[in-house]
Amino acid sequence: MEPVTLRTERLELSIPVESDADAITAAAQDPEVPRWTVLPSPYRRADADTFLTMTAQRWDAGTDLVWAIRRDDAWVGMIGLHGVFVGGQAEIGYWMASTARRQGYLTEAARAVIDFAFAPEPLDLQRIEWRAVVGNVPSSRSARALGFRYEGVLRQGLASPRGRYDGWIAGLLRADERTPQPWPNLED
Ligand SMILES: CC(C)(COP(=O)(O)OP(=O)(O)OC[C@H]1O[C@@H](n2cnc3c(N)ncnc32)[C@H](O)[C@@H]1OP(=O)(O)O)[C@@H](O)C(=O)NCCC(=O)NCCS
Repeated sequence: MEPVTLRTERLELSIPVESDADAITAAAQDPEVPRWTVLPSPYRRADADTFLTMTAQRWDAGTDLVWAIRRDDAWVGMIGLHGVFVGGQAEIGYWMASTARRQGYLTEAARAVIDFAFAPEPLDLQRIEWRAVVGNVPSSRSARALGFRYEGVLRQGLASPRGRYDGWIAGLLRADERTPQPWPNLED
């Protein structure tokens, strides 16, 4: 698939490129990133280079569609659809640079990705899944704000380079209202 650029009120989402590598490497030093994601730790510049090569190949294959989230042309985060099955489903994943968090950027970017995913062309998805390591409240709150419905716990269901973890799972169907629903794992 040709990489697609998405635009929102404050952000541009486009394929990550070589000039993003330093910003990605710097942001990946935040311990919250390996704590909750599958990114390598320690994270070196070579990891960013490998990631950029794989991202281009996966856009080409149409299996994983990953966007750099940009504010005023600066890289501030990453969001993607993984395991894309056209006409079926995919899993959403995201992480933000610590300096760009709590400003609503993630939810703004994710709404654009979800609209793209559910549009009849080119993906026509019916369902988007979200998974996170049990205890990841910021990610849960983000998914809940987007309209995802909590579906349960995947016992030892998530794997990262650091081991296996219990996971929370949620889903959003094309026909679902995007109004936030109560999540039993979140207190507020
Ligand atoms: C999860 C993450 C991407 C959220 O990004 P963000 O830009 O801060 O998100 P937003 O500003 O759009 O906020 C989205 C929701 O999360 C909530 N939130 C964000 N950070 C939070 C925190 N530290 N504690 C509690 N809630 C938090 C916001 O309040 C908002 O929920 P609300 O609408 O119910 O108020 C970011 O915290 C991150 O990169 N974390 C580390 C990596 C990670 O966990 N990735 C997800 C793996 S599944």
